[in-house]
Amino acid sequence: MPRPVVILDFGSQYTQLIARRIREEHVYCEIHPCTTSLDALKAMEPTALIFSGGPSSVFVEDAPTVDPAALELGVPVLGICYGMQLLSHLLGGTVVPATEREYGPAKLRVDEPVGLLSPFDAGEEVDVWMSHGDRVERLPEGFRVLGHTANSPYAAVGHLGKSIFGVQFHPEVAHTPRGIDILRAFLFEVAGVEPDWTPGSFVESSVQAIQRQIGDARAVCGLSGGVDSSVAAMLVSRAIGDRLTCIFVDNGLLRKHEARRVMEMFEGRLHLNIVHVDAREEFLTALRGVVDPEQKRKIIGKVFIDVFDREARRFENVRFLVQGTLYPDVIESVSFKGPSAVIKSHHNVGGLPERMKLELCEPLRLLFKDEVREVGTVMGMPHDLLWRQPFPGPGLAVRCPGAIDEDKLAVLREADAILEEEIRAAGYYERLWQSFAVLVPVKTVGVMGDQRTYEWVVAIRAVESRDGMTADWARLPYEVLARISARIINEVRGCNRVCYDISSKPPSTIEWE
Ligand code: XMP
Repeated sequence: MPRPVVILDFGSQYTQLIARRIREEHVYCEIHPCTTSLDALKAMEPTALIFSGGPSSVFVEDAPTVDPAALELGVPVLGICYGMQLLSHLLGGTVVPATEREYGPAKLRVDEPVGLLSPFDAGEEVDVWMSHGDRVERLPEGFRVLGHTANSPYAAVGHLGKSIFGVQFHPEVAHTPRGIDILRAFLFEVAGVEPDWTPGSFVESSVQAIQRQIGDARAVCGLSGGVDSSVAAMLVSRAIGDRLTCIFVDNGLLRKHEARRVMEMFEGRLHLNIVHVDAREEFLTALRGVVDPEQKRKIIGKVFIDVFDREARRFENVRFLVQGTLYPDVIESVSFKGPSAVIKSHHNVGGLPERMKLELCEPLRLLFKDEVREVGTVMGMPHDLLWRQPFPGPGLAVRCPGAIDEDKLAVLREADAILEEEIRAAGYYERLWQSFAVLVPVKTVGVMGDQRTYEWVVAIRAVESRDGMTADWARLPYEVLARISARIINEVRGCNRVCYDISSKPPSTIEWE
């Protein structure tokens, strides 16, 4: 890995966003909690430091802080919002408590177009986004004002000799449209870092790292057909070839033709060493009569572990389990406890490594989702695979409320396949976070020809979202909904009514269970 730009997290909800902005510039960066020791920080050999914002105030007891020696490492530092107040405080400036919060848009007037503000002209007005309480009232020695706003006389400041800068506003958010120019100026002009973090360079260095980690042992990977496990498996297979065995478990809760599609893709097209395990009976038997959603999830997780463990034991010298863990999960587990720590994740197969006594190989643990897709692309993986909508581990079981059985699953599968076909045909598939069918376990009356029918209801769920944490129902055109509804009712035996779910998250969730 290249030497990182290190972002010290003081608990801001925007910390991940800073990292993503920097990665988008092809600069490698890592987020670490502000409690990281000075020695650990030095050992990372950072090319630059960024202090994130945070909800705290330098005045409160136990306010998050860093060893002031971090400012003497000789690497450029950028403090954002709380980060700026903290470095001003540590260097002998004066920070005053908030009388009121400044929140929202502001105009930054550029006083000195140097350092961070070199992309601008003197006197230029730049739109910025403010969100702070306390503010700096007296600058530490050697600092100059580079820009101000109506309410913040020290909105952008810097010590040019020491390359230490601070901004009171948030350059990382979209509401600061030219914020990226400010971050670029810090990275490339002030810190002189190289934009050498590319998907190609990642593949190269990660293949070597995997070879070093696994040596001549064998590894297994639970391949679901989703983006993360697929890209992780491809990387490991590049590194150790046939010594990786991918195990694809058909749990009977997959979408129509999914098992065939996954096998064709990975065995036929990408030439991975993959074992198809037909465990449909085992899962459906264990789930028979189970109504409670959490109970369903637990059973599915447990049976998965049983099946996977049993299959993996058929291979000798297996020492590693490959998992597609991504950077947001890693950050979550080490994060400083501020708002940025509140990230949800589903632990479908927690307990697998412990039970199997395997070491983990997590080749994607430094990547964000968009980077995973880029890495997949440079390895020649097909676009359709990399842009598949998320599909939950417990599969159709959480889209069929109540007890499940083969009949309901068959109706759901057919309806879902039609829905996907129409959503793709209308050009919506990649614009939506998720779109799927739900079987509502209620029978309603209909007429078909001269016959009265009494059949299930299918609900359509289609949502837009950035990360699945919040979501809004998609305003799909009526014509698209009409086609979906007509086709499902005409073509799917066992369903005579289609509804569109117009609930947002929160308070509803995306899945029905
Ligand atoms: P909810 O329904 O909580 O879903 O709004 C948010 C996102 O998480 C997915 N999801 C799951 N993924 N195992 C998974 O792997 C699960 O048990 C699970 N439950 C929900 C859901 O599809 C959505 O993308």
